[in-house]
Amino acid sequence: MRQVITRVPAKINIVLRVGPPRADGYHELATVFHGVSLYDEVAASPGKGVSLDLTGPYANATPGGGGNLAVRAAQALAAHAGIRANAALRVHKAIPVAAGLAGGSADAAGALLVCRRLWELDLSDAELARVAARLGSDVPFALGGGVARGGGRGERLRRLAVGSPLHWVLAVSDDGLSTPAVYKRLDVLRSGRRVPKPKFDQAVIAALRAGDAAALGPALANDLGEAAADLRPSLDDTLRTGRELGALGGLVSGSGPTCAFLARDERHAAELAAGLQGSGVCANALAVTGPAWTGPALRE
Ligand code: C5P
Repeated sequence: MRQVITRVPAKINIVLRVGPPRADGYHELATVFHGVSLYDEVAASPGKGVSLDLTGPYANATPGGGGNLAVRAAQALAAHAGIRANAALRVHKAIPVAAGLAGGSADAAGALLVCRRLWELDLSDAELARVAARLGSDVPFALGGGVARGGGRGERLRRLAVGSPLHWVLAVSDDGLSTPAVYKRLDVLRSGRRVPKPKFDQAVIAALRAGDAAALGPALANDLGEAAADLRPSLDDTLRTGRELGALGGLVSGSGPTCAFLARDERHAAELAAGLQGSGVCANALAVTGPAWTGPALRE
């Protein structure tokens, strides 16, 4: 056996409702996570201690060593299992960093999956999800990908059905945004306002189940969008341009700055991506599909 390998998709939030800050500093969410076909690859082979080799287009933008979430995931899993953390990790970074696409969470989830297999741990998916939740709010979703409702701080998941694949364009920026800074800005913008408990949007869930992109487009919503655009005013231009180019709907993905636009079909997504790329409102426009799932941890 040379290595154990998997791939984990980026996610967008089709809808992201954010409640007031909780006593633990997190915010209660009602969100729908949606994996999209842009993947990081995570591999583990036998090693001494935990090492990390970063490759791919976003390798240079990714923290290395103990600041890397994949490394922390391997260490957390070993500690949970009561064994020594010995793994040589390799992460191929195709998901932009600090982009609102949960790329770091994807790497953490991938590391948990490949290390469980490498170390032949007898650990259920539910137990792995508990280790994942301690690493970050988006990590439990990334263990499976697909589509799921997320409650709590994002870690309480219920898988959802999707009628047919959806076609999206991701407008990626060169400069990341810090997730805690975006949540903090939202609290500042909301000060003095009464913030209701976040609720799941049944219209979104029904449109997803039916695979009805036309109904889904106008229902896309992200409470963090306002705060992300306050920190990065150019996002308003990006969103306007996507709509003017004929997107069925558009929103900031997670805490941004990536914007996600819904297209009618594959051809429309390619046209929209070309239009966004040409307009100069983003560094990169990528046509992707969803839902996309996390792969099994394979030995090779
Ligand atoms: O869970 P994770 O480590 O990814 O969260 C990063 C930061 O984002 C948290 O420290 C917190 O500031 C903010 N956050 C939040 N409420 C959530 C998820 C994240 O306030 N539900």
